[in-house]
Amino acid sequence: MITVKNDHVLRTVDFASYKDKIAKVHALIEERNGPGGDYLGWAHYPETYDREELSRILAAAKEIRENYEVLLVCGIGGSYLGARAAIEAINGLYGKNKVEIIFFGQTLSPTYVKQVLDYLENKTFAINVISKSGTTTETAVAFRLARDLLIRKVGAEKAAKAIFATTDKEKGALLQLCKKYGYERFVLPSDIGGRYSVYTAVGLLPMAVAGIDVEAFLRGAKKGLEFYGKAENNPAYEYGILRHELYKAGYPVEMLVTYEPSLVQLGEWWKQLFGESEGKDHTGLLPDSATFTTDLHSLGQFIQEGSPVLFETILEIAKPAVDVIVPHDEDDLDGLNYLEGKGLDYVNSKAREGTIAAHVDTGKVPNIILTLDKMDAEGLGELMYFFMRACACACYLNEVNPFNQPGVEVYKKNMFALLGKPGYTK
Ligand code: PA5
Repeated sequence: MITVKNDHVLRTVDFASYKDKIAKVHALIEERNGPGGDYLGWAHYPETYDREELSRILAAAKEIRENYEVLLVCGIGGSYLGARAAIEAINGLYGKNKVEIIFFGQTLSPTYVKQVLDYLENKTFAINVISKSGTTTETAVAFRLARDLLIRKVGAEKAAKAIFATTDKEKGALLQLCKKYGYERFVLPSDIGGRYSVYTAVGLLPMAVAGIDVEAFLRGAKKGLEFYGKAENNPAYEYGILRHELYKAGYPVEMLVTYEPSLVQLGEWWKQLFGESEGKDHTGLLPDSATFTTDLHSLGQFIQEGSPVLFETILEIAKPAVDVIVPHDEDDLDGLNYLEGKGLDYVNSKAREGTIAAHVDTGKVPNIILTLDKMDAEGLGELMYFFMRACACACYLNEVNPFNQPGVEVYKKNMFALLGKPGYTK
């Protein structure tokens, strides 16, 4: 179970005073009768997911692993960040994935798009296009380009067999394409929004292709439901309360800190989850993320002595996946023999302890400390559930809908009008 430490938040938090509020929040989530209640399908998904679809996901992943060099994942926002975060967190940045996973459809940059298309010229590749609406411009344009390249390389019939789509069961442009061309299709359930969809085919198919044990990931999610799906003694709600208190105390920014470069994308997923869920009605914490000790050499100065706008949430991993020992050196010209025989995990943990003391005791920056036992598929499944549950709790404490994103539509409408999309006027 994830532990939540509040002894570095520089104030006393009266959890008991939240008893009634938390009971109400919990009821809104369980009974699905609060704002956005129609999108709470994720909350019990670790128990209710479709086993038949999971078998098809595993079979598709096997087929992709056996027949292609690259899987091109076309998606944006909630339709890609979870898979990317999970693949990097579990396999690392230089993981020996049998199939290379390339993320596409998350940008309109011609430079990026051209580089990927050029790279694919000499590769065998399959496509997993992921879009609930099926009309997201970035994803749809990228998919059109990738599909054209695939058809040019292997012909229409083989291309159709190499395309796997994840979309809504009943509606959307991508569904129409699937029906017309016979692409294998997976479902993003209508009661689950993009940023809460990592346990569905949205996350599972790319993860399974990357060789991750998705059944262990779902087992972790189920543990998450057991530990963080209850009304009382719930660490996810405690974390929700702590960040709510710090927001009320005048800190508008929460910085998620990890000590692992392979968790950078987890930070991106977390930022979307909290930012898009909570940032409404001119309220909510701005989610930011940093990787220490790397960013101590860039942002560390600001955190220590800059404007006092942020608190940190430190994500500790208790047991490292591996360790590396500092070797002996005869000359010791670099003066490092005092670390000889020590593991880098020990050095990293001392850096963490020293930094927490510097930021909290000297800099007066409140720190919430979350500890996950192990970053493996099961641990990550549990951690993501913890964050999703905490996020729903935080939103309901702030009285905003955790599951919509009306503000995002504004840029889309302006862009469509400027591009001359039918039905949109300047
Ligand atoms: O979390 C969300 O709902 C969004 O980030 C969406 O996932 C994102 O906008 C992509 O939407 P779609 O899956 O419809 O292409």
